Amino acid sequence: MHIALKNVKEVDCICDVLILPFTEDGVNPYASLNPSVSRLIGKIRKKEFKGSLNEVLLVPAPEDIKPERILFLGLGKKDAVTAEKVRQTGGKALSYLRDMEMRNIAFSPLVLGQLKQSPVYFIEGAFLGLYTYKKYKNDNHAKKITSLVLLAKSSKDLLLSIRKTEVTAASVVFAKDLVNAPANDMTPTDLAAAASSLKRKNVSVRILEKKDIQKIGMGAFLAVSYGSKELPKFIVTEYRGSRKPPIVLVGKSITFDSGGLSLKPSDGMEKMKYDMAGGAAVLGVLKAAAELKLPVHLICLLPATENLPGGSAVKPGDVVRSISGKTIEIANTDAEGRLAVADAIEYAKRFKPRAIIDIATLTGACAIAFGGEVAAMMGNDRRLLDELRKAGEETHERVWELPLFEEYKEYLKSDIADIRNIGSRTGSLMASAYFLSEFAGPSPWVHIDIAGTAWVEKDRPYVPKGASGIGVRLLLNLIERVQ
Ligand code: BES
Ligand code: ZN
Ligand code: ZN
Repeated sequence: MHIALKNVKEVDCICDVLILPFTEDGVNPYASLNPSVSRLIGKIRKKEFKGSLNEVLLVPAPEDIKPERILFLGLGKKDAVTAEKVRQTGGKALSYLRDMEMRNIAFSPLVLGQLKQSPVYFIEGAFLGLYTYKKYKNDNHAKKITSLVLLAKSSKDLLLSIRKTEVTAASVVFAKDLVNAPANDMTPTDLAAAASSLKRKNVSVRILEKKDIQKIGMGAFLAVSYGSKELPKFIVTEYRGSRKPPIVLVGKSITFDSGGLSLKPSDGMEKMKYDMAGGAAVLGVLKAAAELKLPVHLICLLPATENLPGGSAVKPGDVVRSISGKTIEIANTDAEGRLAVADAIEYAKRFKPRAIIDIATLTGACAIAFGGEVAAMMGNDRRLLDELRKAGEETHERVWELPLFEEYKEYLKSDIADIRNIGSRTGSLMASAYFLSEFAGPSPWVHIDIAGTAWVEKDRPYVPKGASGIGVRLLLNLIERVQ
């Protein structure tokens, strides 16, 4: 979809559909446009259209104006319009119009202007809401919107923020495509190839192979890979947009999590292809940061492997040695994410980073506690936690802090090794983070658990069901706050 700015009146724009947003109260903000449009608005607002949030009504336009049709679009109550609601209306309106096979769309920002809301949020919602994943459908005859014209005067600021939105949305799409791909086409090798495709000026990609992983002693990460024929890859990508110490992002990248010998129930196991959503998110962040030339030094680490119960799989009760030297009793092979992420966090410290942030589909407990509305976070750095919370509010990829009390240490006591990879059933969300904190040590670090938010079961206004792409917009926003 092409975005354009045109400084023409609503009634003079040649297009398939003109989108006119309305709030729920009765006033007609378009009274001065043209008498026949006003008459139409008056008629339709009596019964057919209230203006409630995300309500849409497509009608033929009066003969004396250039647009062919008008889409009435509801913003909800005037005082309750927020950036998030504007995003939602963008997603809802554009996906609806695509399904109606409309192609050239114009959008009037008049009402948003009156409400002091930026039309760029509408564009963001539009881009994200139009996402589809049709790679494996033979019948993939795509209905496509060709252009979205914003009826506004061009300015440098507006053009810049539209470009930023476009690049960010494309990076969310990049991440979603990786997550939606079936695990047979998104092996650790495929993920490494996807990371390598990001190479460009200022972006380097290094893949540590099995023998390198062995050599540097990442025994915890390596243990996860024993049960699979697919070779593990430890993916290191770096974008140098500044000379400052780096921010290191660690993304859990289990390309399929069967649970290993502590096998998961078969119901829903097919979804465990999304256990690399953390890795996909951090690659999306790197892609956008590089394309936008953000002044930040960013390193992304993706410990990528399958977790399968093959003949040489790691067994419950096995003890492995992590790169930190700590020994770990693997009491449950399904708690594999923390093994991979722990080695990556320890490796991250070698870069003397300003911050380490890991993002992982780590625990079922997170999904049970929060549903799909919010991600959990725990960490040891007040400023990072606070900035992440604010970044979450701004992007609506919200994160909620939970405690890391030292009492959780008890949960992970092992009789045989330095630490155990699970506690008891209770408190497992905090215990998993506490496990990671033992590897982060005093380095500034935050863990984000996206188990509940990385996959969407039912279409949302600008997040079609499937991979949500969570983390890309959140972490980009965070980087801009702390850079
Ligand atoms: N990948 C799962 C967590 C998960 C569950 C993500 C549901 C998304 C949806 C993780 O590796 C896992 O299996 N965790 C176990 C840990 C337990 C054995 C302590 C869990 O949460 O059940
Ligand atoms: Zn697991
Ligand atoms: Zn997992």
